[in-house]
Amino acid sequence: MGTSTSSTAQGTEMATGKRFKIACIGAGNVGASVAQYCAEMELGDIVLTDIVEGLPHGKALDLTEAGPIRGYGSIVTGTNDYADIAGSDVVVVTAGLPRKPGMSRLDLLSRNGEIIAGLSAEIAKHAPDSVVIMVTNPLDVMTYTAFKKLGFPPNRVVGMAGCLDSARMRAFVAMELGVSMKNVDTMVLGSHGDDMVPLPGYTTVSGIPITALLPQDRIDAIVERTRKGGGEIVALLKSGSAYYAPGASAARMARSVLRNENQLLPCSAYLTGQYDLEDLYLGVPVRLGRDGVQEIVELAIGDDAYAALHHSADEVRTGIDELRKLGLL
Ligand code: APR
Repeated sequence: MGTSTSSTAQGTEMATGKRFKIACIGAGNVGASVAQYCAEMELGDIVLTDIVEGLPHGKALDLTEAGPIRGYGSIVTGTNDYADIAGSDVVVVTAGLPRKPGMSRLDLLSRNGEIIAGLSAEIAKHAPDSVVIMVTNPLDVMTYTAFKKLGFPPNRVVGMAGCLDSARMRAFVAMELGVSMKNVDTMVLGSHGDDMVPLPGYTTVSGIPITALLPQDRIDAIVERTRKGGGEIVALLKSGSAYYAPGASAARMARSVLRNENQLLPCSAYLTGQYDLEDLYLGVPVRLGRDGVQEIVELAIGDDAYAALHHSADEVRTGIDELRKLGLL
């Protein structure tokens, strides 16, 4: 009766009876959404961490108080002390600044680069065995920065981008066709931003290619809307950016890791020659399980998508070079 904190299949590692621990670094809009979805799925106990006093504690208490109604037993705590993330199995990083009016792209890159470099040292110190899921933008460059600063093997550092972009594309296809979103599957590669590479050739509705269901101009419009998906939400919200779908995407990745689900998801992963690219993080299909990126899947993507992927990689490399010039890498 009541909510039990004893070992159950959910929120525990079956073999050892250990409860999983998930640290959310950054308790802003996205971080709190990640925590909420993780609690709803009872993935484990959650530690919300932020530099703002009271903020993670308040959100953690609020989420705890929702537990009796929503029926979850995850323990959610808030802290300003990185030591409290000790022993985390998964660390989700959403800390950083959003781009504000008047702030240049380079400003954002350097400010968030500094934040990610700083907190990576804390993660390496307190949660050295964790799988780190990066969410802070610019995503692919920040994931690379974390990878370099953490000193973890590349499989244990992964970025959340394609999961979100493909969810958006799935929603747009479903809306266009009036079918259930559950029937739509798609794949979006490349960097997280205008240069992403949505793949209509790998987009299906219950196994039917969308090329058989929609005229090319409608497919093109969906691809374009997917590329601008983040901006569409920003324009509507006027202040701040999306957080429900980003939070859900990161939580889905956390679940695949903690429950060793081996979901095949587009994620930003460290490339070592796949797609003829190396030494950068970029969105590719990966099999995500207990060790993080278990495998990178190389698809036959055709000449246009290949060129678009390489263009996307160039943009990420530019960001990495800028951080190097600033001495942050
Ligand atoms: N350690 C912990 N938290 C930090 C740090 C740090 N070093 N630096 C900043 N933060 C916190 C801020 O105090 C803030 O609470 O990160 C939080 C960011 O939250 P929001 O401003 O609400 O931003 P959010 O909408 O959650 O987006 C976070 O995710 O999707 C991306 O582009 C988005 O990069 C942005 C990130």
